[in-house]
Amino acid sequence: MLVKWLVKKDSFSLHLNLPPPGPRLLPDVDIYTKQAHIGQGQYGIVWSGKHKKTQRKVALKAVQIRNPNEGYPLTCIREINVLKKLQKNKGEARNRQGLVKLEDLVMKYEGNTPSTLFLVFEFCSYDLYGLLTTREIQLTLTHLKSFAVQLLKALHFTHSKNILHRDLKTANILVTSKGVLKIADWGLAREWNGKGRLTLNVVTLWYRAPELILGANKYGKGVDVWSVGCILGEMFRNRGSLFSGHDETTQINAIFDLLGVPDENGWASVEPFSKKFKEFTMGRMERSPASKLQSFMKGQCSRNVTWVSDSLIDLMQRLLEMDPDKRITAGDAFIHEFFIESPRWVPPEKLNMDFRVESVHEYASRNRSNSTKAGTKK
Ligand SMILES: Nc1ncnc2c1ncn2[C@@H]1O[C@H](COP(=O)(O)OP(=O)(O)O)[C@@H](O)[C@H]1O
Ligand SMILES: [Mg+2]
Repeated sequence: MLVKWLVKKDSFSLHLNLPPPGPRLLPDVDIYTKQAHIGQGQYGIVWSGKHKKTQRKVALKAVQIRNPNEGYPLTCIREINVLKKLQKNKGEARNRQGLVKLEDLVMKYEGNTPSTLFLVFEFCSYDLYGLLTTREIQLTLTHLKSFAVQLLKALHFTHSKNILHRDLKTANILVTSKGVLKIADWGLAREWNGKGRLTLNVVTLWYRAPELILGANKYGKGVDVWSVGCILGEMFRNRGSLFSGHDETTQINAIFDLLGVPDENGWASVEPFSKKFKEFTMGRMERSPASKLQSFMKGQCSRNVTWVSDSLIDLMQRLLEMDPDKRITAGDAFIHEFFIESPRWVPPEKLNMDFRVESVHEYASRNRSNSTKAGTKK
């Protein structure tokens, strides 16, 4: 597969055909110093590092090339292409701030043969998984509101370019030392104009929208919005994932247990997947649409329970609306009353980011708690 990629640098531009093999088209990775292992990517390790000349801190995401003739993994090509598209417009700097910046592409060579491609990103000190699971880090309501708004704004921008992310979860949301939130991991993202079929095998199970589980042959931006609903639940309850099934059946049942079994009649888009819907709901006695969201969010909430206000529940209910046609959009969600009621949300520059832990990511958090990677299936 041939992908044309234009990397603009200060004084030169490099035109790269992926995949090589061939001459050394990309700079050697040794222009960077690798520092610490900060993430376990699907195709290799993610390292923190520094540009040797400028001392700029970066994250280096390795993509192992097993056989140069086979080309690159599709997810890697997707990630590069989507970020290229989203980073294109110079006039939208403020909007692009919410998306991780791809700064460079470099290569490790064995002789003249490329062996590992590295995507070089701006370095972010935290991911949301690390921030939420590190005891020494005390997040306030102001932090949580700001992160939620920044996430929704970044998603609104992404959706305005007709791009679906399709893998939003806490480990894929980065936060800089200055409190700026950035969506990362664009390997499952794609452009979508509302036409045609999309693959259903997307979004990590715990964050997967019901229409995906039920096998809808058409889905859209709502799948990302659902994931944000799950993430907000996780942020404000602070007791791990909202729905943590171990397969699609237990996952959809966890959703129905909390939010109620939807009434098929009020759900126009259920029609194409009604067979699967019936299978999933067959054994269930109750057919009440009652939601237990409020009591669930307040019960065993390990944050200040007053943070779980009526308006937060209202917002979550709209993000976790079962029917994707009725689900709120990212653009409407970030102007929801919850963010305006006191304390009003603030931009990153107003956040106190002076935490006792300078940097933490999912990889270190999981290693520390020695927990399994259940539910992180792609
Ligand atoms: N720019 C970055 N700055 C800091 N950490 C990062 C950066 N990019 C990725 N990471 C860390 O590496 C992990 C894996 O990277 P990701 O892009 O999500 O790869 P994968 O597609 O394999 O999940 C992330 O969860 C995050 O903790
Ligand atoms: Mg990831």
